[in-house]
Amino acid sequence: MKGTVQFSAALVLLALAFSFATAYDPSPLQDFCVDLNDTTSAVFARDNIIDYHFLLVLHAVLVNGKFCKDPKLVKAEDFFFSGLDKVGNTSNKEGSAVNLVNVDKLGGLNTLGISLARIDFAPYGLNPPHTHPRGTELLVVLEGTLNVGFVTSNTDNRLFTKVLNVGDVFVFPIGLIHFQQNIGNTPAVAISGLSSQNPGVITIANAVFGSNPPISIDVLTKAFQIDANVVKYLQSEF
Ligand SMILES: *[C@@H]1O[C@H](CO)[C@@H](O)[C@H](O)[C@H]1NC(C)=O
Ligand SMILES: *[C@@H]1O[C@H](CO)[C@@H](O)[C@H](O)[C@H]1NC(C)=O
Repeated sequence: MKGTVQFSAALVLLALAFSFATAYDPSPLQDFCVDLNDTTSAVFARDNIIDYHFLLVLHAVLVNGKFCKDPKLVKAEDFFFSGLDKVGNTSNKEGSAVNLVNVDKLGGLNTLGISLARIDFAPYGLNPPHTHPRGTELLVVLEGTLNVGFVTSNTDNRLFTKVLNVGDVFVFPIGLIHFQQNIGNTPAVAISGLSSQNPGVITIANAVFGSNPPISIDVLTKAFQIDANVVKYLQSEF
């Protein structure tokens, strides 16, 4: 009997794990699944039925999401985050700061397929070219004037760009390289919604020239058709 329960539960979890492996955040199967934020006391552990199969399957589940907190213990605070009124520190080389409220900062976002960011820009500050591998981004300007854009994939590498003023909205499709620059001499502020609880970010320059360990100079020299000394310089900057 115990064996049967374990086996069918493992099958269900496997099915869940595979459905989580599709392109988008999955639709929730319940009202909410607040991030337990503590895998050592997961519901499964209390039932004392963890076996080898469970450990294997749990690993697969962990890769794609978080454990649910017991709904009876969930409080309003689990759906709450405070602090997006705070101005980001833009004293850096790019002159921008992103405060992303994802599932790591707001446990109630788990399984809901959404997150939010405040982006601050110093005068002429730049949020440099980057992609979100798991999320489309919808940006609204609250303050200042931004020049924004994204580039399509290699079929034509087409650039779509636009100047945005207060109240203007622009969408950056999932996975595409995009940027935002403040083109005014006063600070700018934008809010972005992202279609994942954990959209991820790959900043192109940092990933290519600042990887750890570094990508070989030969690879980068050929890829960018530039001199080895230029590659070394760029690697030192990132
Ligand atoms: C902003 O960041 C800079 C560079 O890291 C740091 O020197 C400065 O103290 C920070 N300012 C505030 C107000 O935190
Ligand atoms: C989860 O726990 C970590 C470490 O204790 C903490 O820094 C983080 O804020 C917590 N996240 C949430 C959403 O409560």
